[in-house]
Amino acid sequence: MKAIRVSEFGGPEVLKFESGVPVPTVNDNQVLIKVAAAGVNPVDTYIRSGTFSALPTLPYTPGKDTSGTVEQIGAKVTEFKKGDRVYTIRTASGGYAEYTTADTDFVGHLSDKLTFEQGAGLGTPYYTAFRAFFKAQIKAGETVLVHGASGAVGLACTQIGVSMGVQIIGTAGTEAGMELVRKNGATAVFNHREDGYREKIMAETGGAGPDVILEIAAHINLSYDLEMIKKYGRIVIVGSRGSLEIIPFWIMGKQCTLTGVALWLSPKEAWPEMHAAVQKGMAEGWLQPYIRQQYPLSDAKQAQTDVMSSRGAQGKIILKT
Ligand SMILES: NC(=O)c1ccc[n+]([C@@H]2O[C@H](COP(=O)([O-])OP(=O)(O)OC[C@H]3O[C@@H](n4cnc5c(N)ncnc54)[C@H](OP(=O)(O)O)[C@@H]3O)[C@@H](O)[C@H]2O)c1
Repeated sequence: MKAIRVSEFGGPEVLKFESGVPVPTVNDNQVLIKVAAAGVNPVDTYIRSGTFSALPTLPYTPGKDTSGTVEQIGAKVTEFKKGDRVYTIRTASGGYAEYTTADTDFVGHLSDKLTFEQGAGLGTPYYTAFRAFFKAQIKAGETVLVHGASGAVGLACTQIGVSMGVQIIGTAGTEAGMELVRKNGATAVFNHREDGYREKIMAETGGAGPDVILEIAAHINLSYDLEMIKKYGRIVIVGSRGSLEIIPFWIMGKQCTLTGVALWLSPKEAWPEMHAAVQKGMAEGWLQPYIRQQYPLSDAKQAQTDVMSSRGAQGKIILKT
């Protein structure tokens, strides 16, 4: 099969498009999937560069999120059959490939309401977004600031919040990104690259601040979040790419809760809750991954470069096999 292979950690140039790669074999609890599309996530680049906390053995094929059809099932698999439309949240053999294997714990049925392209945008963004909602115990009627709402995870957070009757205040860095967040149901959208946008967020909440902040860029915003959050509010760090100084007084002075999510560290008991929520969202029709850009598998280098460097996110970047 054709696949992307990585033999050393490094820049995007270590992503090699190869033919004649053996099709992976399934174990008893796995399915083999003929991949239609693969999601490109920032975490794929942290792993490829060798800076992530958990690294695969070299050589490896990158990619956790895929969509496609079941080609073969392991001896103990009962919940999937050949031909089923599925998506993955974690592959075993790597998703940037024509075929991949995954443990059934990390595979879901893909609703007919979603295309395969959308299915590739489901796994990491939506499971992470749901995990953040569950962690913060967000309730209908609350005001939630999605600080970075135009990207894959931010749009998932926006759709989930709107579906629950939460007031979403979103931010984006471009007019096109802001428009997309508005279209997805946010009550108010501000530009995080404009001076004074935080004052506008405070005014939008009548000066009290949001009940919850889901923070996509904590290395830039956490100190401001602590100033903006409502008294007794909750801040969930979803994304962070560096360090910054904070004033701990704000945590005490607001009696707010500061926490974080790491999808790959989700406890075993969190998975059924996330699976059920994703299936419900697809069935109800509001869960709709938005695909910003698709590349052929052979352009994985460009796709990974763009997922880290583009300013002006609008949903998800995927690879088509
Ligand atoms: N904790 C976890 O388990 C987990 C899981 C998935 C992802 N993540 C992390 O979450 C982050 C987002 O992932 P993604 O896949 O959604 O990436 P993405 O699609 O590239 O989205 C990045 C988002 O960050 C926004 N952003 C840029 N500058 C910002 C600023 N100053 N303030 C607020 N937002 C800003 C972007 O907005 P504009 O481009 O419009 O400026 C865009 O909405 C990444 O850092 C990723 O590593 C964490």
